[in-house]
Amino acid sequence: MSGVFDTVSGSYMEPGAQTEESQLFIPEKIGTPLAPNATKVMILGSGELGKEVTIAFQRLGVEVHAVDRYDNAPAHQVAHFSYVIDMTDAAAVRELVTTVKPDFIIPEIEALATDELVRIEQEGLATVVPTARATQLTMNREGIRRLASEELGLPTSGYEFCSTFEEFTAAAERLGYPNVVKPVMSSSGKGQSVVRSAEDLESAWEYAMSGARVANQRVIVEQFVEFDYEITLLTVRGIDPATGKPATWFCEPIGHRQQDGDYVESWQPMEMTAPALENARSVAARITNALGGRGVFGVELFVSGDDVYFSEVSPRPHDTGLVTLATQRFSEFELHAKAVLGLPVDVTLTSPGASAVIYGGVESTGVSYAGLAEALAVAETDVRLFGKPEAFTKRRMGVAVSTAEDTASARDRATLAAAAVTVHG
Ligand SMILES: Nc1ncnc2c1ncn2[C@@H]1O[C@H](COP(=O)(O)OP(=O)(O)OP(=O)(O)O)[C@@H](O)[C@H]1O
Ligand SMILES: [Mg+2]
Repeated sequence: MSGVFDTVSGSYMEPGAQTEESQLFIPEKIGTPLAPNATKVMILGSGELGKEVTIAFQRLGVEVHAVDRYDNAPAHQVAHFSYVIDMTDAAAVRELVTTVKPDFIIPEIEALATDELVRIEQEGLATVVPTARATQLTMNREGIRRLASEELGLPTSGYEFCSTFEEFTAAAERLGYPNVVKPVMSSSGKGQSVVRSAEDLESAWEYAMSGARVANQRVIVEQFVEFDYEITLLTVRGIDPATGKPATWFCEPIGHRQQDGDYVESWQPMEMTAPALENARSVAARITNALGGRGVFGVELFVSGDDVYFSEVSPRPHDTGLVTLATQRFSEFELHAKAVLGLPVDVTLTSPGASAVIYGGVESTGVSYAGLAEALAVAETDVRLFGKPEAFTKRRMGVAVSTAEDTASARDRATLAAAAVTVHG
Protein backbone atom coordinates (compact mmCIF):
# COMPACT_ATOMS: atom_id res chain seq x y z
CA MET A 1 0.00 0.00 0.00
CA SER A 2 1.48 3.32 -0.98
CA GLY A 3 0.69 6.42 0.99
CA VAL A 4 2.18 9.38 2.75
CA PHE A 5 2.38 9.53 6.52
CA ASP A 6 2.49 13.08 7.76
CA THR A 7 4.18 12.93 11.14
CA VAL A 8 3.28 16.51 12.04
CA SER A 9 -0.46 16.12 11.85
CA GLY A 10 -0.61 12.37 12.29
CA SER A 11 -2.80 12.24 9.21
CA TYR A 12 -2.48 9.63 6.52
CA MET A 13 -3.73 9.90 3.00
CA GLU A 14 -3.63 7.69 -0.03
CA PRO A 15 -5.06 8.01 -3.53
CA GLY A 16 -8.67 6.82 -3.67
CA ALA A 17 -9.92 4.28 -6.17
CA GLN A 18 -10.23 5.88 -9.59
CA THR A 19 -13.70 4.64 -10.32
CA GLU A 20 -16.85 6.37 -11.40
CA GLU A 21 -16.87 8.54 -8.27
CA SER A 22 -14.71 11.10 -10.06
CA GLN A 23 -17.91 11.90 -11.92
CA LEU A 24 -20.03 12.27 -8.78
CA PHE A 25 -21.73 15.62 -8.42
CA ILE A 26 -19.67 18.39 -6.79
CA PRO A 27 -21.39 21.77 -6.39
CA GLU A 28 -19.36 24.52 -8.06
CA LYS A 29 -20.77 27.14 -5.72
CA ILE A 30 -22.67 27.20 -2.44
CA GLY A 31 -25.97 29.12 -2.62
CA THR A 32 -27.83 31.01 0.09
CA PRO A 33 -30.06 29.04 2.47
CA LEU A 34 -33.77 29.83 2.09
CA ALA A 35 -33.09 31.50 -1.27
CA PRO A 36 -33.91 29.95 -4.66
CA ASN A 37 -30.25 29.10 -5.28
CA ALA A 38 -29.78 27.27 -1.94
CA THR A 39 -27.49 24.23 -1.84
CA LYS A 40 -29.75 21.68 -0.15
CA VAL A 41 -29.14 18.51 1.79
CA MET A 42 -31.76 16.14 3.16
CA ILE A 43 -30.72 14.23 6.30
CA LEU A 44 -32.55 10.91 6.71
CA GLY A 45 -32.39 10.21 10.45
CA SER A 46 -32.37 13.15 12.85
CA GLY A 47 -30.70 11.73 15.96
CA GLU A 48 -27.63 13.09 17.72
CA LEU A 49 -25.31 12.26 14.84
CA GLY A 50 -27.69 13.86 12.34
CA LYS A 51 -27.87 16.93 14.58
CA GLU A 52 -24.10 17.43 14.44
CA VAL A 53 -24.08 16.80 10.68
CA THR A 54 -26.83 19.41 10.34
CA ILE A 55 -24.82 21.99 12.28
CA ALA A 56 -21.71 21.22 10.20
CA PHE A 57 -23.59 21.82 6.92
CA GLN A 58 -25.21 24.97 8.26
CA ARG A 59 -21.81 26.40 9.12
CA LEU A 60 -20.94 26.02 5.42
CA GLY A 61 -24.11 27.87 4.41
CA VAL A 62 -26.02 24.81 3.24
CA GLU A 63 -29.82 24.54 3.62
CA VAL A 64 -30.68 21.51 5.74
CA HIS A 65 -33.88 19.45 5.62
CA ALA A 66 -34.01 17.01 8.55
CA VAL A 67 -36.25 13.93 8.45
CA ASP A 68 -37.22 11.43 11.12
CA ARG A 69 -40.10 9.20 12.13
CA TYR A 70 -40.99 11.25 15.20
CA ASP A 71 -41.49 14.93 16.04
CA ASN A 72 -38.81 17.17 17.56
CA ALA A 73 -35.92 14.77 16.97
CA PRO A 74 -32.49 16.28 17.79
CA ALA A 75 -31.64 17.40 14.22
CA HIS A 76 -35.18 18.75 13.71
CA GLN A 77 -34.39 21.27 16.42
CA VAL A 78 -31.49 22.83 14.50
CA ALA A 79 -32.38 22.26 10.81
CA HIS A 80 -33.97 24.85 8.49
CA PHE A 81 -36.84 22.49 7.75
CA SER A 82 -38.05 19.34 9.47
CA TYR A 83 -40.34 16.49 8.42
CA VAL A 84 -41.86 13.41 10.02
CA ILE A 85 -42.32 10.45 7.68
CA ASP A 86 -41.90 6.67 7.69
CA MET A 87 -38.45 6.51 6.09
CA THR A 88 -38.88 2.82 5.25
CA ASP A 89 -41.87 3.75 3.06
CA ALA A 90 -40.60 4.12 -0.51
CA ALA A 91 -43.51 6.31 -1.66
CA ALA A 92 -43.13 8.67 1.30
CA VAL A 93 -39.38 9.05 0.69
CA ARG A 94 -39.90 9.69 -3.04
CA GLU A 95 -42.62 12.24 -2.43
CA LEU A 96 -40.46 14.23 -0.03
CA VAL A 97 -37.43 14.10 -2.34
CA THR A 98 -39.43 15.32 -5.32
CA THR A 99 -40.91 18.16 -3.23
CA VAL A 100 -37.68 19.34 -1.56
CA LYS A 101 -35.33 18.59 -4.49
CA PRO A 102 -32.17 18.23 -2.38
CA ASP A 103 -28.75 18.17 -4.03
CA PHE A 104 -27.65 15.48 -1.56
CA ILE A 105 -29.52 12.84 0.41
CA ILE A 106 -27.56 12.01 3.56
CA PRO A 107 -28.66 8.80 5.29
CA GLU A 108 -27.89 8.87 9.02
CA ILE A 109 -29.54 5.57 9.95
CA GLU A 110 -29.73 2.08 8.43
CA ALA A 111 -33.46 1.37 8.36
CA LEU A 112 -34.45 3.20 5.17
CA ALA A 113 -36.19 2.46 1.87
CA THR A 114 -32.77 1.87 0.30
CA ASP A 115 -34.14 0.30 -2.91
CA GLU A 116 -35.97 3.55 -3.53
CA LEU A 117 -32.74 5.48 -2.88
CA VAL A 118 -31.15 3.41 -5.67
CA ARG A 119 -33.96 4.42 -8.05
CA ILE A 120 -33.74 8.07 -6.96
CA GLU A 121 -30.01 8.05 -7.63
CA GLN A 122 -30.44 6.30 -11.00
CA GLU A 123 -33.00 8.89 -12.08
CA GLY A 124 -30.56 11.64 -11.13
CA LEU A 125 -33.02 13.23 -8.68
CA ALA A 126 -30.30 13.62 -6.02
CA THR A 127 -26.86 12.33 -5.06
CA VAL A 128 -27.12 9.71 -2.30
CA VAL A 129 -24.24 9.79 0.23
CA PRO A 130 -21.94 8.03 -0.11
CA THR A 131 -23.81 5.97 -2.74
CA ALA A 132 -27.24 4.34 -2.77
CA ARG A 133 -25.60 0.94 -3.15
CA ALA A 134 -23.55 1.50 0.00
CA THR A 135 -26.72 2.20 2.01
CA GLN A 136 -28.31 -0.93 0.52
CA LEU A 137 -25.34 -3.17 1.29
CA THR A 138 -24.82 -1.93 4.86
CA MET A 139 -28.44 -2.09 5.97
CA ASN A 140 -28.25 -5.89 5.80
CA ARG A 141 -25.36 -7.74 7.46
CA GLU A 142 -25.45 -10.32 4.68
CA GLY A 143 -24.72 -7.77 1.95
CA ILE A 144 -21.73 -6.14 3.61
CA ARG A 145 -20.26 -9.36 5.05
CA ARG A 146 -20.38 -11.20 1.71
CA LEU A 147 -18.81 -8.20 -0.04
CA ALA A 148 -16.03 -7.91 2.56
CA SER A 149 -15.21 -11.57 2.91
CA GLU A 150 -16.23 -13.32 -0.29
CA GLU A 151 -15.58 -10.58 -2.88
CA LEU A 152 -12.75 -8.60 -1.31
CA GLY A 153 -11.14 -11.41 0.71
CA LEU A 154 -10.89 -9.30 3.87
CA PRO A 155 -10.25 -11.21 7.11
CA THR A 156 -13.45 -11.67 9.18
CA SER A 157 -14.63 -14.10 11.83
CA GLY A 158 -15.99 -17.39 10.45
CA TYR A 159 -19.72 -16.99 9.75
CA GLU A 160 -22.85 -18.54 8.27
CA PHE A 161 -26.31 -17.18 7.45
CA CYS A 162 -29.43 -19.12 8.47
CA SER A 163 -33.18 -18.83 8.07
CA THR A 164 -34.44 -21.61 10.37
CA PHE A 165 -33.68 -22.94 13.83
CA GLU A 166 -32.42 -26.20 12.28
CA GLU A 167 -29.97 -24.34 10.03
CA PHE A 168 -28.91 -22.27 13.01
CA THR A 169 -28.18 -25.35 15.14
CA ALA A 170 -26.14 -26.95 12.36
CA ALA A 171 -24.21 -23.71 11.71
CA ALA A 172 -23.41 -23.27 15.41
CA GLU A 173 -22.11 -26.83 15.60
CA ARG A 174 -19.89 -26.25 12.56
CA LEU A 175 -18.57 -22.89 13.75
CA GLY A 176 -18.11 -24.01 17.36
CA TYR A 177 -18.63 -22.18 20.64
CA PRO A 178 -18.74 -19.47 21.72
CA ASN A 179 -20.38 -17.78 18.75
CA VAL A 180 -22.47 -14.67 18.28
CA VAL A 181 -25.90 -14.60 16.64
CA LYS A 182 -27.40 -11.41 15.18
CA PRO A 183 -30.47 -10.67 13.06
CA VAL A 184 -29.21 -9.58 9.62
CA MET A 185 -31.18 -6.36 9.95
CA SER A 186 -30.68 -4.86 13.40
CA SER A 187 -28.46 -2.34 15.12
CA SER A 188 -27.31 -1.33 18.60
CA GLY A 189 -27.06 -4.98 19.62
CA LYS A 190 -30.80 -5.65 19.24
CA GLY A 191 -31.54 -9.38 19.11
CA GLN A 192 -27.81 -10.12 19.44
CA SER A 193 -26.40 -12.65 21.90
CA VAL A 194 -23.40 -14.82 22.61
CA VAL A 195 -24.05 -18.57 22.37
CA ARG A 196 -21.72 -20.34 24.81
CA SER A 197 -22.98 -23.89 24.33
CA ALA A 198 -25.76 -25.87 22.64
CA GLU A 199 -27.93 -25.14 25.67
CA ASP A 200 -28.13 -21.46 24.69
CA LEU A 201 -29.30 -22.13 21.13
CA GLU A 202 -33.03 -21.95 21.68
CA SER A 203 -33.07 -18.77 23.76
CA ALA A 204 -30.57 -17.10 21.40
CA TRP A 205 -32.78 -17.94 18.42
CA GLU A 206 -35.90 -16.58 20.09
CA TYR A 207 -34.08 -13.44 21.16
CA ALA A 208 -32.81 -12.92 17.59
CA MET A 209 -36.31 -13.32 16.17
CA SER A 210 -37.76 -10.83 18.65
CA GLY A 211 -35.00 -8.24 18.17
CA ALA A 212 -35.08 -8.19 14.39
CA ARG A 213 -36.22 -5.09 12.54
CA VAL A 214 -38.34 -7.20 10.19
CA ALA A 215 -40.22 -10.38 11.13
CA ASN A 216 -38.87 -13.82 10.12
CA GLN A 217 -35.58 -12.54 8.89
CA ARG A 218 -32.27 -14.34 8.57
CA VAL A 219 -29.54 -14.32 11.16
CA ILE A 220 -25.77 -14.34 10.94
CA VAL A 221 -23.86 -16.70 13.23
CA GLU A 222 -20.27 -15.56 13.76
CA GLN A 223 -17.39 -17.19 15.54
CA PHE A 224 -16.57 -15.22 18.66
CA VAL A 225 -13.35 -13.28 18.09
CA GLU A 226 -11.15 -13.16 21.21
CA PHE A 227 -9.83 -9.73 20.30
CA ASP A 228 -7.34 -7.72 22.37
CA TYR A 229 -9.30 -4.56 21.60
CA GLU A 230 -11.69 -3.14 19.01
CA ILE A 231 -11.48 0.11 17.09
CA THR A 232 -13.38 2.36 14.78
CA LEU A 233 -11.18 3.63 11.98
CA LEU A 234 -12.85 6.76 10.63
CA THR A 235 -12.05 6.78 6.94
CA VAL A 236 -12.79 9.80 4.76
CA ARG A 237 -13.24 9.61 1.00
CA GLY A 238 -12.96 13.07 -0.46
CA ILE A 239 -11.19 15.11 -3.10
CA ASP A 240 -7.48 15.85 -2.78
CA PRO A 241 -7.12 19.59 -3.51
CA ALA A 242 -3.60 19.01 -4.85
CA THR A 243 -4.80 16.74 -7.66
CA GLY A 244 -8.55 17.29 -7.85
CA LYS A 245 -8.85 13.50 -7.66
CA PRO A 246 -10.54 11.19 -5.14
CA ALA A 247 -8.40 10.33 -2.13
CA THR A 248 -8.79 8.55 1.20
CA TRP A 249 -7.80 9.89 4.61
CA PHE A 250 -7.62 7.98 7.88
CA CYS A 251 -8.30 9.58 11.24
CA GLU A 252 -6.36 8.32 14.23
CA PRO A 253 -7.93 5.04 15.43
CA ILE A 254 -10.66 5.24 18.07
CA GLY A 255 -10.76 2.65 20.85
CA HIS A 256 -14.10 1.90 22.47
CA ARG A 257 -15.87 -0.22 25.02
CA GLN A 258 -19.23 -1.82 24.21
CA GLN A 259 -21.84 -2.98 26.68
CA ASP A 260 -25.02 -4.80 25.59
CA GLY A 261 -24.47 -3.75 21.98
CA ASP A 262 -23.98 -0.05 22.64
CA TYR A 263 -20.82 1.92 23.12
CA VAL A 264 -20.33 3.38 26.60
CA GLU A 265 -17.00 5.15 26.12
CA SER A 266 -14.52 5.83 23.33
CA TRP A 267 -11.06 7.36 23.15
CA GLN A 268 -8.65 8.57 20.51
CA PRO A 269 -5.94 7.75 19.60
CA MET A 270 -5.99 4.04 20.36
CA GLU A 271 -2.39 2.93 20.60
CA MET A 272 -1.65 0.20 18.05
CA THR A 273 1.45 -1.57 16.78
CA ALA A 274 2.66 -0.30 13.41
CA PRO A 275 1.74 -3.56 11.59
CA ALA A 276 -1.74 -3.62 13.16
CA LEU A 277 -2.34 -0.01 12.12
CA GLU A 278 -1.16 -0.74 8.60
CA ASN A 279 -3.45 -3.76 8.38
CA ALA A 280 -6.35 -1.69 9.71
CA ARG A 281 -5.83 1.02 7.10
CA SER A 282 -5.50 -1.53 4.36
CA VAL A 283 -8.80 -3.21 5.32
CA ALA A 284 -10.52 0.19 5.66
CA ALA A 285 -9.23 1.39 2.30
CA ARG A 286 -10.43 -1.75 0.53
CA ILE A 287 -13.95 -1.78 1.99
CA THR A 288 -14.51 1.95 1.51
CA ASN A 289 -13.16 1.88 -2.06
CA ALA A 290 -15.61 -0.91 -2.79
CA LEU A 291 -18.52 1.13 -1.39
CA GLY A 292 -17.45 4.29 -3.23
CA GLY A 293 -18.78 7.84 -3.08
CA ARG A 294 -17.61 10.59 -0.77
CA GLY A 295 -17.97 11.06 2.99
CA VAL A 296 -16.95 9.62 6.34
CA PHE A 297 -17.09 5.87 6.99
CA GLY A 298 -16.78 4.22 10.42
CA VAL A 299 -14.88 0.98 9.84
CA GLU A 300 -15.30 -1.35 12.85
CA LEU A 301 -12.36 -3.69 13.36
CA PHE A 302 -11.31 -6.29 15.92
CA VAL A 303 -7.58 -6.41 16.67
CA SER A 304 -5.70 -9.41 18.00
CA GLY A 305 -1.93 -8.93 18.11
CA ASP A 306 -1.05 -7.61 14.66
CA ASP A 307 -4.10 -9.28 13.09
CA VAL A 308 -7.13 -7.23 12.13
CA TYR A 309 -10.64 -8.59 11.48
CA PHE A 310 -13.28 -6.62 9.64
CA SER A 311 -16.55 -6.49 11.63
CA GLU A 312 -18.82 -3.94 9.92
CA VAL A 313 -18.86 -0.43 8.48
CA SER A 314 -21.15 2.59 8.72
CA PRO A 315 -21.22 4.62 5.49
CA ARG A 316 -21.58 7.78 7.64
CA PRO A 317 -20.21 9.20 10.90
CA HIS A 318 -20.03 6.70 13.74
CA ASP A 319 -21.33 7.03 17.30
CA THR A 320 -17.92 6.21 18.81
CA GLY A 321 -16.59 9.13 16.72
CA LEU A 322 -18.43 11.63 18.94
CA VAL A 323 -15.01 11.85 20.64
CA THR A 324 -13.75 13.80 17.61
CA LEU A 325 -15.85 16.77 18.77
CA ALA A 326 -13.00 17.25 21.28
CA THR A 327 -9.96 15.63 19.69
CA GLN A 328 -9.74 16.67 16.06
CA ARG A 329 -9.25 20.01 14.34
CA PHE A 330 -12.43 19.06 12.47
CA SER A 331 -14.95 16.62 13.94
CA GLU A 332 -16.14 13.60 11.94
CA PHE A 333 -19.33 15.57 11.26
CA GLU A 334 -17.46 18.52 9.75
CA LEU A 335 -15.31 16.10 7.75
CA HIS A 336 -18.46 14.41 6.45
CA ALA A 337 -19.96 17.71 5.31
CA LYS A 338 -16.75 18.81 3.60
CA ALA A 339 -16.10 15.49 1.90
CA VAL A 340 -19.69 15.37 0.61
CA LEU A 341 -19.31 18.86 -0.88
CA GLY A 342 -15.96 17.90 -2.45
CA LEU A 343 -14.09 20.38 -0.20
CA PRO A 344 -10.63 19.74 1.30
CA VAL A 345 -10.57 17.66 4.47
CA ASP A 346 -8.05 17.77 7.33
CA VAL A 347 -7.99 14.84 9.75
CA THR A 348 -5.49 16.36 12.20
CA LEU A 349 -5.71 15.15 15.78
CA THR A 350 -5.19 18.10 18.12
CA SER A 351 -5.25 16.26 21.46
CA PRO A 352 -5.83 12.83 22.93
CA GLY A 353 -9.36 12.63 24.27
CA ALA A 354 -12.34 10.53 25.26
CA SER A 355 -16.13 10.46 25.22
CA ALA A 356 -18.54 8.93 27.75
CA VAL A 357 -22.25 8.38 27.17
CA ILE A 358 -24.98 9.95 29.33
CA TYR A 359 -27.93 7.52 29.51
CA GLY A 360 -31.57 8.31 30.23
CA GLY A 361 -31.78 6.11 33.32
CA VAL A 362 -35.52 6.81 33.42
CA GLU A 363 -38.53 6.25 31.15
CA SER A 364 -40.17 9.63 30.77
CA THR A 365 -40.94 12.47 28.37
CA GLY A 366 -39.74 16.03 28.81
CA VAL A 367 -36.97 15.11 31.24
CA SER A 368 -34.70 17.62 32.95
CA TYR A 369 -30.96 17.45 33.47
CA ALA A 370 -29.09 18.32 36.66
CA GLY A 371 -25.38 18.43 37.40
CA LEU A 372 -24.28 20.24 34.26
CA ALA A 373 -22.22 22.73 36.29
CA GLU A 374 -20.39 19.89 38.07
CA ALA A 375 -19.78 18.14 34.74
CA LEU A 376 -18.39 21.25 33.10
CA ALA A 377 -16.18 21.93 36.12
CA VAL A 378 -14.13 18.88 35.10
CA ALA A 379 -11.00 20.13 33.31
CA GLU A 380 -10.97 20.25 29.48
CA THR A 381 -14.48 18.87 29.29
CA ASP A 382 -17.60 19.67 27.31
CA VAL A 383 -21.08 18.15 27.31
CA ARG A 384 -23.68 17.73 24.57
CA LEU A 385 -27.31 17.19 25.57
CA PHE A 386 -29.19 15.91 22.55
CA GLY A 387 -32.62 17.27 23.52
CA LYS A 388 -34.50 14.03 22.81
CA PRO A 389 -38.18 14.46 23.64
CA GLU A 390 -38.41 11.08 25.36
CA ALA A 391 -35.96 9.27 27.65
CA PHE A 392 -35.59 5.50 28.06
CA THR A 393 -33.40 3.82 30.66
CA LYS A 394 -30.84 2.82 28.07
CA ARG A 395 -31.35 5.64 25.57
CA ARG A 396 -28.36 7.83 24.81
CA MET A 397 -29.40 11.34 25.90
CA GLY A 398 -26.05 13.10 25.87
CA VAL A 399 -22.31 12.70 25.84
CA ALA A 400 -19.34 14.12 27.72
CA VAL A 401 -16.14 14.76 25.76
CA SER A 402 -12.76 15.53 27.32
CA THR A 403 -9.19 16.09 26.31
CA ALA A 404 -6.06 15.42 28.38
CA GLU A 405 -2.37 14.65 27.96
CA ASP A 406 -3.18 10.98 27.48
CA THR A 407 -6.28 8.92 26.77
CA ALA A 408 -6.31 7.33 30.25
CA SER A 409 -6.74 10.73 31.95
CA ALA A 410 -9.22 11.83 29.28
CA ARG A 411 -11.32 8.70 29.94
CA ASP A 412 -11.35 9.49 33.67
CA ARG A 413 -12.49 13.04 32.98
CA ALA A 414 -15.22 12.12 30.51
CA THR A 415 -16.55 9.36 32.76
CA LEU A 416 -16.60 11.69 35.77
CA ALA A 417 -18.43 14.38 33.82
CA ALA A 418 -20.98 11.95 32.32
CA ALA A 419 -21.75 10.57 35.79
CA ALA A 420 -22.27 14.11 37.14
CA VAL A 421 -25.20 14.70 34.76
CA THR A 422 -28.39 13.18 36.14
CA VAL A 423 -31.66 12.82 34.26
CA HIS A 424 -34.99 13.42 36.02
CA GLY A 425 -38.46 12.42 34.85
N1 LIG B 1 -17.90 -12.08 16.25
C1 LIG B 1 -17.71 -11.34 17.35
N2 LIG B 1 -16.75 -11.67 18.24
C2 LIG B 1 -16.56 -10.94 19.37
N3 LIG B 1 -17.28 -9.86 19.69
C3 LIG B 1 -18.25 -9.46 18.84
C4 LIG B 1 -18.52 -10.19 17.63
N4 LIG B 1 -19.53 -9.57 16.99
C5 LIG B 1 -19.87 -8.52 17.77
N5 LIG B 1 -19.13 -8.45 18.87
C6 LIG B 1 -19.21 -7.42 19.93
O1 LIG B 1 -20.51 -6.83 19.91
C7 LIG B 1 -20.43 -5.45 19.50
C8 LIG B 1 -21.62 -5.10 18.62
O2 LIG B 1 -21.59 -5.90 17.46
P1 LIG B 1 -22.04 -5.31 16.04
O3 LIG B 1 -21.26 -4.07 15.76
O4 LIG B 1 -21.98 -6.39 15.04
O5 LIG B 1 -23.56 -5.00 16.38
P2 LIG B 1 -24.49 -3.80 15.99
O6 LIG B 1 -25.84 -4.17 16.47
O7 LIG B 1 -24.32 -3.51 14.55
O8 LIG B 1 -23.95 -2.64 16.85
P3 LIG B 1 -23.91 -1.09 16.44
O9 LIG B 1 -25.10 -0.83 15.60
O10 LIG B 1 -23.95 -0.42 17.78
O11 LIG B 1 -22.59 -0.91 15.75
C9 LIG B 1 -19.09 -5.31 18.80
O12 LIG B 1 -18.64 -3.98 18.81
C10 LIG B 1 -18.24 -6.28 19.64
O13 LIG B 1 -17.87 -5.67 20.87
MG1 LIG C 1 -21.21 -2.23 15.40
